Amino acid sequence: MTLQLRVYVPPHPLIKHWLAVARDAATPSVLFRSAMTELGRWLTYEAAREWLPTQDTIVQSPLAECPATLINPEVPMAVVPILRAGLGLLEGAQTLLPLASIYHLGLVRDETTLQPSSYLNKLPEKFHPQTRVLITDPMLATGGSIMRAMEELTQRGVDPSLTRIVCVVAAPPALQKLSAAYPGLIIYTATIDEQVNERGFIVPGLGDAGDRTFGT
Ligand code: PRP
Repeated sequence: MTLQLRVYVPPHPLIKHWLAVARDAATPSVLFRSAMTELGRWLTYEAAREWLPTQDTIVQSPLAECPATLINPEVPMAVVPILRAGLGLLEGAQTLLPLASIYHLGLVRDETTLQPSSYLNKLPEKFHPQTRVLITDPMLATGGSIMRAMEELTQRGVDPSLTRIVCVVAAPPALQKLSAAYPGLIIYTATIDEQVNERGFIVPGLGDAGDRTFGT
């Protein structure tokens, strides 16, 4: 079987609504943050469908024993927010994944070269090979940052097929790079926008997600 990058754009009214709010240039920071939280929540909900490890069990209801399914607490789960903007999606993701460890990764693009550099790396030296990893970053533009994040993770033993990326706007250059390097990867995004301009901004996109989240 040939593996292929899969990109899901869940057709959900809540996702469409909060994307519209986030795109609108008139949305103030306080509401933009809510939009990020909600998008993080609903996209993580969609991503969790085939990704959360479960175990079958039997429970005793007040009336009878019955088969049941629980989240398996023994499989390690991790969320990796790419700072700064990925923090906006983290809150919503975390409410659905209370057992996950959070490993922060700080990456910033040089405004001229668009190359990412790392200023914070709280990843463990080695991940358990079964770890489910969910990366949050609202923008996949040229793909430099997400490729760097994937490199840091796979070097530490993360299996790309157990990894999910939750983003808000994905653009073709990033998707092409990810597809070539990590064909088993699965992405959940609110939309795919066709263009990245010469300054590395996605068009129409939603502007600078980090600045809009933190009011800078
Ligand atoms: C933005 C965004 C992504 C990255 C995407 O972060 O949040 O991490 O750029 O661009 P790329 O695909 O071309 O690498 P930025 O570097 O502006 O940092 P910030 O989140 O702190 O604002």
